[in-house]
This record gives sequence, C-alpha cells and structure tokens, in this order.
Amino acid sequence: MPQLPGTDLAVSDLCFGGNVFGWTADAPTSFAVLDRFLDAVEPQPAFVDTSESYGNGASEQILGDWMAARGVRDRIVVATKASRMDKEHPLAAGEIRTAAEQSLRRLQTDRIDLYYAHYDDETTPLEETLTAFDELVQAGKVRYVAASNYSAARLTEARETAQRLGVTGYVALQTHYNLMERAGYEGELRDAVRDQGIGTLPYFALAKGFLTGKYRAGEQVDSPRAKGASAYVGERGDRVLTALGEIARVHQVPMPAVALRWLADQPTVVAPIASGRSVEQLADLLPMRDLVLTDAERKALDDASAP
Ligand SMILES: NC(=O)c1ccc[n+]([C@@H]2O[C@H](COP(=O)([O-])OP(=O)(O)OC[C@H]3O[C@@H](n4cnc5c(N)ncnc54)[C@H](OP(=O)(O)O)[C@@H]3O)[C@@H](O)[C@H]2O)c1
Repeated sequence: MPQLPGTDLAVSDLCFGGNVFGWTADAPTSFAVLDRFLDAVEPQPAFVDTSESYGNGASEQILGDWMAARGVRDRIVVATKASRMDKEHPLAAGEIRTAAEQSLRRLQTDRIDLYYAHYDDETTPLEETLTAFDELVQAGKVRYVAASNYSAARLTEARETAQRLGVTGYVALQTHYNLMERAGYEGELRDAVRDQGIGTLPYFALAKGFLTGKYRAGEQVDSPRAKGASAYVGERGDRVLTALGEIARVHQVPMPAVALRWLADQPTVVAPIASGRSVEQLADLLPMRDLVLTDAERKALDDASAP
C-alpha cells in the first residue's frame, strides 16, 4: 500500500480527484462514484482530493455528506486545500484558520488528513503560514500539511523555514505532472522533492482527459475540459496515444489505466490524482491498480512522450 514518505499516512494507489463533485457530477452521481471507489480500493483507505475552492465549497460539502451518510469517515484519507486566488493574502494566518474551520464544517469531520497550501502566497511570510498550519496540527484538526503548485526554490525555503522554527513541514507536493506534462516536474522540482525525502501527488494525471484517447483531430468532445485537453492534439499527442493504445491492447485494460500506471511508477510519485464524472469513467481508471508494466513498455511511453 502506498505510504506518504516520513508519515504514517497510508493511501490508495489512486487518489480520486474531487473537483468533479458538484461540477460535472451532481450529488447522486458523486455518491455513486465514491461508493464504487471505496469498494474498489478496499482494504486500502480511499484517498480523495478536494479543495475549499472547488465549486465554492460544493465539492467538500458533497464529500462530507457522503461520508456522513455512509458512516465511512475512518476509511477515507481526506485531502483538502486552503489558498483561494481571490483572496489578497490567501495564506495569512487568519485566512488559514477560517478556511480550515469552514472545510471541517463542510466535510463534517473533526480532522483533515492532508491539508495543502493550494497555491503559494508570496505576500505572506512563510513563517506565518507554517506557524498557522502547525497550530492546526497541534490542535489535532489537521494530521499533515503539504504544498501545491510550489516552485523548487519555495519548497526548499519552506523546508528550511519549518526546520528553523521547529514547526511541522510540508510532507508532500501536489503538482501538474503527466505523460504530456513532464518538463515542468522532471528537473529541479523533482530533485527538491527527492532531496527532502517527501512524495509527490501529481494532478491532471489524465492530462484533463486527453490520455483517455477521446480527443483526436477533428473530433468534438462535450466537456468543460475540452479546450485545455485539445491543446495536446498533435504529433506528440498522437505518439503517446499510439503507445498507450498498444500497451492497453496487450494487457486488455483501458488506455487511461496505462497512463496512470506509468505516472504511478515514476520516481517520487506516491499516487496519481485523477477523476471521472461517472461510475463508467471511474471503471476505466481502476485497473491501474493491478497493472504491471514491463521495462520495455515504460520505455516506449518515455520515448513517445519525450518533451
Ligand atoms: N492542485 C491543483 O492546483 C489542482 C489543479 C487541477 C486539478 N487538481 C486535482 O486533480 C484532480 C484531477 O484533475 P482533473 O480531474 O481536472 O483532470 P484529469 O484527472 O486529468 O482528467 C479527468 C477527466 O477526464 C475525463 N475522463 C476520465 N475518465 C474518462 C474515461 N474513462 N472516458 C472518458 N473521459 C474520461 C473526465 O472529464 P470529462 O468527462 O469532463 O471529459 C474526468 O473528469 C482534480 O479533481 C483535483 O482534485 C488539483
């Protein structure tokens, strides 16, 4: 079972991305997807990612309603995030305290397992942000804190600051990383994560849906993600989809499962974060859990996706 390095937090092989709840999946569909996810990953705890900003709190509310209705809080690893872009100083101490209380209320729980700084906030001293996070940990309201969308330099600065202050530091990085987006991570950012001995949770693991294979030249896809995902249509995208398709055929699994397995196998990655808007879409992701790629298959994907 994957474990966040340096913590006692065990998670599922796949982290389910909760930005669909209350957006592309209504509440009943979200409940059905969560039921299926929990059932599929058992006996692993179901690792679910959300944020105060998704649907303006609707995603957390739906997750909280579902955990309460099913009585399954103890079987879920709840990750959520503070730092809304519409705030002037999103990671000021007062903003963090307020955001955490509101998230706990929507999630209907007494603790957040992994609490992220969603975006870096260079207007607030790291000392203030990390101290505010530490107070939540000391109060038992948060188990671990993590960074999202931080640069290598700021991740290092955060580590040094936490050590200097003697407060809890970030135990993970959530960042944009997948077969189509490699260059931004596989350099100094990955080095910083490795040097700190922490783990990475990559988001947009399916390149906004592109790696499912449904975006092809001349085809229209009905999704709010279509504009972003269509940007990958082209020669390099074709090479990646061809390699994914061949490997998927050999293993008789859906293409997105292969894309997620490749990502899960990358150094420093703990578990990829991906979503589906229906039980059927989720079913195509789950086979990543048992899939074993050969070295030759991983190399074929490395080569096809080379930046
Ligand atoms: N920290 C951050 O700043 C940040 C930023 C972005 C995301 N995230 C997190 O990462 C998670 C994952 O990102 P994401 O969900 O936006 O992108 P993603 O995982 O790359 O793509 C998922 C989307 O692909 C489509 N899809 C999935 N399975 C499919 C299938 N079998 N067949 C056809 N289409 C399928 C669905 O969208 P459609 O049906 O709409 O096509 C689905 O919602 C989010 O939920 C969120 O928790 C974090």
